[in-house]
Amino acid sequence: MTVMVAAAEKAAKALKRDFGEVENLQVSRKGPSDYVSAADVKTEKTLVAELSKARPNFGFVLEEGGIITGADSEHRWIIDPIDGTTNFLHGIPHFAISIALQRGTEIIAGIVYNPITEDWYRAEKGTGAFYNNHRMRVSAHRSLDDSVVATGIPHKGRPWHEEFIQQSQRVMSATAGIRRFGTASLDLAFVAVGRFDAYWEMGLKPWDIAAGILLVQEAGGFVADLTGPGSPLDTGNILATNAQLQAPLRKVILGTP
Ligand code: IPD
Ligand code: CA
Repeated sequence: MTVMVAAAEKAAKALKRDFGEVENLQVSRKGPSDYVSAADVKTEKTLVAELSKARPNFGFVLEEGGIITGADSEHRWIIDPIDGTTNFLHGIPHFAISIALQRGTEIIAGIVYNPITEDWYRAEKGTGAFYNNHRMRVSAHRSLDDSVVATGIPHKGRPWHEEFIQQSQRVMSATAGIRRFGTASLDLAFVAVGRFDAYWEMGLKPWDIAAGILLVQEAGGFVADLTGPGSPLDTGNILATNAQLQAPLRKVILGTP
């Protein structure tokens, strides 16, 4: 945990400066997109350098840099340097650094950090989940009527458009509201801290959700693949809720009796 937090803190310093610059570039004709790609790569490099210094043998699964096999084949870091890139690019201060540590197939530690709000969401397997220095707990809502449900909307170039429209149509008529904030790792963190009652999305990558899955589980929540028995880390289709809402919400999302 100390190693992960230190690495994220170091990377976040430059990332905050870059975000300030994006806000300026927003109004320039060239626009900020090349600049943002560079910020993404730079953040990831800093994280890899810092984590490698502390744990030289661990491998990596990186959004930008792909897979790096370590001498220790049991342990690998799963990293999204800027989750919520579209928000970052548009000057919207809702994005995060997400780092998870996997041992074998199990996620054993994870952090999600929003460098703008300076909010930390952290968990280690078996020891609970923390929002800054407070213990996190998923929401206690038992009824879908009272539930606020987060999701991700597929966009141009992504599959599942038709399925998403049908799913959201069913969810909007069964719940208190749907939210789309644009950062999967923070969506999961918000479920863990009880702001969102649930979150579902399809077509995700392991780096979007690896840390967030552990946050929800350690906060007493439930995480599963949306449709089948597989792990969302492999399928990319996720449902995260408290224990009471998972069965009824899954039925609503999928339109099953
Ligand atoms: C995206 C965000 C977004 C989710 C997308 C992800 P990126 O990650 O987490 O909330 O809806 O599916 O790809 O591209 O911003 O790192
Ligand atoms: Ca991401």
